[in-house]
Amino acid sequence: MSVKVMGVTSGRKNSNSEILLKEALMACEEAGAEVTMINLKDYHILSCTGCTACTKGMSEGKNVGCVLDKKDDKKKIMDVMLSQDAVIFSAPTYDLMPTAEYLMFAQRSLSYETAFLETIGAIEHKDRVAGLISVGGSTRAWQSMALEGMQATMFTTDMKVVDMILATRVPGAAQCLLDDELIARARKMGENIMKAVATPPEERGWLGDEDMGWCPNCHSNALVLGEPQWDGLHYPVECQVCGAGGTLEQTEDGKWKFVIQPDGLLKDRTTVVGRARHLEEIGATQGGFYSNPENMKLVQQKLKKYKEKQFKSI
Ligand SMILES: Cc1cc2nc3c(=O)[nH]c(=O)nc-3n(C[C@H](O)[C@H](O)[C@H](O)COP(=O)(O)O)c2cc1C
Repeated sequence: MSVKVMGVTSGRKNSNSEILLKEALMACEEAGAEVTMINLKDYHILSCTGCTACTKGMSEGKNVGCVLDKKDDKKKIMDVMLSQDAVIFSAPTYDLMPTAEYLMFAQRSLSYETAFLETIGAIEHKDRVAGLISVGGSTRAWQSMALEGMQATMFTTDMKVVDMILATRVPGAAQCLLDDELIARARKMGENIMKAVATPPEERGWLGDEDMGWCPNCHSNALVLGEPQWDGLHYPVECQVCGAGGTLEQTEDGKWKFVIQPDGLLKDRTTVVGRARHLEEIGATQGGFYSNPENMKLVQQKLKKYKEKQFKSI
């Protein structure tokens, strides 16, 4: 059976995100993969209503799907996407972040939460790898949350990111075609994806640029000062993508590096085990809220004032 690779983009038609994605996918096809590609602009995707019917169902041991399953194209795409061995995502950067179209699509994935569904036996585990391409007109400075925003959308569907490209300084339509190095790098991503798929899942690791990012765990470039977490865990510095905890250390050549402490990967969001810790948090915080009738009564009392208050709209 041939390897299945899918490309998902939200870029302009025949422009940078599509071109770089196609270059990567062509390398996969040449290596024997069966390739599928979609542009989210061709599909109707509604935003998550926030009803949490999906996760409430999961907490009762059932896979109830999404209330919007029959109302838009999300399910149609996911049925294909989740049967892939690898998916490459590419998205333009708008306002430092991945485009809203991409995020709206990705944030509809809660009803596919693999860790939940696997735990209740509703789906079988599948190992998938992913590549991420983020395209912008500027440099890293104006794409500061672009790849990181895409990385954050990989957890729900358990996509292991093995390569990422920050495509900078390509504001014009199809401008990336003038940058041979960038095109070659996109091709390399396709090769890396095929290499990862051919590697046993437990041995799959990072294949992207060695020195990419601050975080040695997920290669994000985004760190935050740690604050006490719900269970008291407190790291001096955290990776804002994977949640790795540690501190900054200065090397002999005066450069700074993020060093993960021995228990720093307790809540590594790139792993099912690490994400399970978040399920504990939801259980304690959200579960504690809903299961106490006194909370419900008090909220209903206090809510009245806000429900009744209406401002002029447009
Ligand atoms: C509304 C809007 C906001 C943008 N914001 C950013 C930005 O914050 N940083 C950046 O590097 N480029 C920004 N850009 C430039 C696009 O990322 C750039 O044109 C890119 O090539 C678009 O990808 P595409 O050709 O695949 O559609 C913005 C473009 C638009 C239209």
